[in-house]
Amino acid sequence: MQQAAKPCEIWAVAGGKGGTGKSFIISSIATQLALRGHRLILIDADYGGANLHSFFGISRPKYSLSDFFEDKIPLSQIIVHSGISNMGLITGALGSLDSESITYTQKQKLFRQIRGLEADFILIDLGAGSHINTLDTFLLADKMIVVTVPEITAIENLYQFIKSVYFRKLKFFMGSIGLKDTVQELWKNRANYGIRSFANLVDYLKKNLPDMHIAYEQEMSKFAVYIILNQVRKSTDILVGENLKSVCLKLLGLTAVYAGYADYDEEVQRTINRKEPFMIHCRFSSVVKEIEDITENIRSEKRSGFSAQIYEYGSP
Ligand SMILES: Nc1ncnc2c1ncn2[C@@H]1O[C@H](COP(=O)(O)OP(=O)(O)OP(=O)(O)O)[C@@H](O)[C@H]1O
Ligand SMILES: [Mg+2]
Repeated sequence: MQQAAKPCEIWAVAGGKGGTGKSFIISSIATQLALRGHRLILIDADYGGANLHSFFGISRPKYSLSDFFEDKIPLSQIIVHSGISNMGLITGALGSLDSESITYTQKQKLFRQIRGLEADFILIDLGAGSHINTLDTFLLADKMIVVTVPEITAIENLYQFIKSVYFRKLKFFMGSIGLKDTVQELWKNRANYGIRSFANLVDYLKKNLPDMHIAYEQEMSKFAVYIILNQVRKSTDILVGENLKSVCLKLLGLTAVYAGYADYDEEVQRTINRKEPFMIHCRFSSVVKEIEDITENIRSEKRSGFSAQIYEYGSP
């Protein structure tokens, strides 16, 4: 008897600050999934700062997203081999492309073709910050992963990033039920409505727009982000992930899942310089076990983003 095809799951990684280790973490998670026998495609969607291919020792990829955007080659035809079984790589655009230059139509086409790729998992690496194209690509994911280091500035940036994602998501949701401008107007004039936080805003909407309550519960209550703490140097750092999770709940009314942490290890830099995938060439490092745990935590967690298909992302 033939088994029904498993639906492909999209994971994306982003964050508020540059250099926290997003590309290292997603390339390692991808390697771990591939080693476990999952077929996956890893996409470098760091528009303007693409470097994911370096983590696999590839200096000059044969194809990149530029071929998709500029020469209109289908996404499925620009997949290059990562050097690891089961894993294809779509490398980021080098040179001419940045977040500003991607049009609304190009973005829609990209998202449609990403959803059409055949794999068990599609993993997406994004650049730092809250550019609208980054937020929209992030919101495409079933599992939205953020990476931070345990430093106060990085955590503040991450909190701002999560807030931007949540706000954009809320706007899409309100748009889908025909109340597009309401949430923006309420937030802009929040002092007049006694709204002090995002959690207050959501309470206000639920109380004053009872019709949206059921749709909200069905859609927004599934919204969750997965937090990964990277470059941990001491045991007290580990608590930062738990604290961030509590802050998300208290101030945003948002569920965050603490997916785990990875230690700081100088071998990470060394393997990148030697053009060797860390997960394969540093099996003795504690980080390998930590990445295995993180991957399993995210994979087994049932909370997924939301039913992405119902939205047209990033209205012009
Ligand atoms: N766990 C770790 N231990 C030691 N060094 C690390 C670790 N994780 C990442 N690094 C180092 O941090 C640097 C930045 O990593 P990476 O490029 O993955 O960050 P990023 O968040 O993707 O950056 P960007 O925002 O520029 O895309 C790299 O030089 C890498 O070697
Ligand atoms: Mg990166």
